[in-house]
Amino acid sequence: MNMARRPRPEKSAAKDTERKARRGKSAKGGRAIPSGLAARQVAAALVRRILHEGTPLGEALARESGALEALSAPDRALAQNIARTTLRRSGQLDEAIGRFVKKPLAKRAALARAILRIGAAQVLFMRIPAHAAIDTAVRLAKADAAARPLAGLINAVLRNISRQSDGILKSQDAFACNIPAWLRRNWIAAYGEHTARRIASSLLKEPALDVTVKDPAQAARWAKALDAHVLPTGSLRLDRGGRAIPSLPGFAQGAWWAQDAAAALPVRLLGDIAGKRVLDMCAAPGGKTAQLAAAGAHVTALDMSARRLERLRENLARLNLEADIVCADALTWQPETPFDAIVLDAPCTATGTARRHPEVLHLKTPGQMTQLMALQGAMLERALGMLQPGGKLIYCVCSLQPQEGEMRIAQVLQDHADQVRRLPIAAQELAGQAQMITPQGDLRTLPCMAIGEETGLDGFFAARLTRLQGRLATAPSWSRPFQDTKRAP
Ligand SMILES: C[S@@+](CC[C@H](N)C(=O)[O-])C[C@H]1O[C@@H](n2cnc3c(N)ncnc32)[C@H](O)[C@@H]1O
Repeated sequence: MNMARRPRPEKSAAKDTERKARRGKSAKGGRAIPSGLAARQVAAALVRRILHEGTPLGEALARESGALEALSAPDRALAQNIARTTLRRSGQLDEAIGRFVKKPLAKRAALARAILRIGAAQVLFMRIPAHAAIDTAVRLAKADAAARPLAGLINAVLRNISRQSDGILKSQDAFACNIPAWLRRNWIAAYGEHTARRIASSLLKEPALDVTVKDPAQAARWAKALDAHVLPTGSLRLDRGGRAIPSLPGFAQGAWWAQDAAAALPVRLLGDIAGKRVLDMCAAPGGKTAQLAAAGAHVTALDMSARRLERLRENLARLNLEADIVCADALTWQPETPFDAIVLDAPCTATGTARRHPEVLHLKTPGQMTQLMALQGAMLERALGMLQPGGKLIYCVCSLQPQEGEMRIAQVLQDHADQVRRLPIAAQELAGQAQMITPQGDLRTLPCMAIGEETGLDGFFAARLTRLQGRLATAPSWSRPFQDTKRAP
């Protein structure tokens, strides 16, 4: 049992709003008006879209962008903070709600359920005064025809949760509640229970913003302007304190782009690529394309999503960088000549990004992972086929499950034992960060890892391969892409 104390509330620019709510008076000194009702309305809409309709957070934010824009900056921050806390703690919230709701709510009561979840998140994890959290929850329920009949129930459940909050939190095991069973089993098998629990704890914290500076020689200058730390691997880390990324110094002039410190590592493993022909095989929205272009490579940025390539185009334009952009399926596209180097940032379950995208843990399934493993294997085969003999291929995924990382590489090395070699990564290439290198010489970062004096990184896997002279034989795994079904997860 996790007997942790009541968690500290998440830092946010929404504090002002809450301070006003705590004072309990309107600016004119009249009757107390709970502040942030509109913010809670947006938070409930986001949670409903994500947890009830299966929409990813980014897309849900885009769909609610009108309502978000209409909020004041502190209320916008409050809405997002409530939604993110609800997503991170959804297992604990549902367990707590389940103690007082004996009959499951009807399917059409999706908004009522979202209101209950965001109300419980505020009471248990955000130290928002219970009266503000409960009162706004009841008002939201009363304003919706389908939720209105449940307003009394919502009131009673949230009051019970508030009264018993200490006991509830003491009796809950956050790891068991918040991480789906298949991922718990997978991570324990891969990293041991102690590390799996540390990973889960680090997913509960709001991550800092990491950025990659276009010209590494200017890192110190931008660190000063952004009030950021320079991490040992060269990324800058800052607390943006609720500020929107485009409003930060240097963004508009294209001096840097947002990229987790772990996501910035795979491209660095290619070494000097100035003047080389490099394929970024799954390129959008372009974080790695920008790194390759900034390092002086002639980049072909390939992706099958026209919508995501539009974002890549905008990003490159802002950064004043160039690439040949190709919208095509990497499994069938044929280049005229092989490439000197290839980066394959393959589609994956993205569980390593759960600090920023807490919904992935709830939206991804073991069946999806099995399908992705087949796609990753097929893409690796294609990438090797497009690589010049002696060239370098970086295969990477932001998944924590070895089935999508370590095991894909073991398979390809076994299938092409005569033609493909691993080029082991040395700690010096990663500014001495030896904890990130596996015994086989691949890169493996975890959300609970430290980097210099900072803690927290996206979970990433990367391996560096090369192919020898000669024809690449068709791999047996190409024709049986689902062979790992038994091993997953
Ligand atoms: C992990 S994301 C890439 C992130 C990108 N490398 C970056 O650093 O910004 C994976 C990408 O693979 C693309 N993708 C998925 N299947 C593909 C296929 N068959 N051919 C080409 N691109 C594909 C998706 O559209 C998505 O943009």
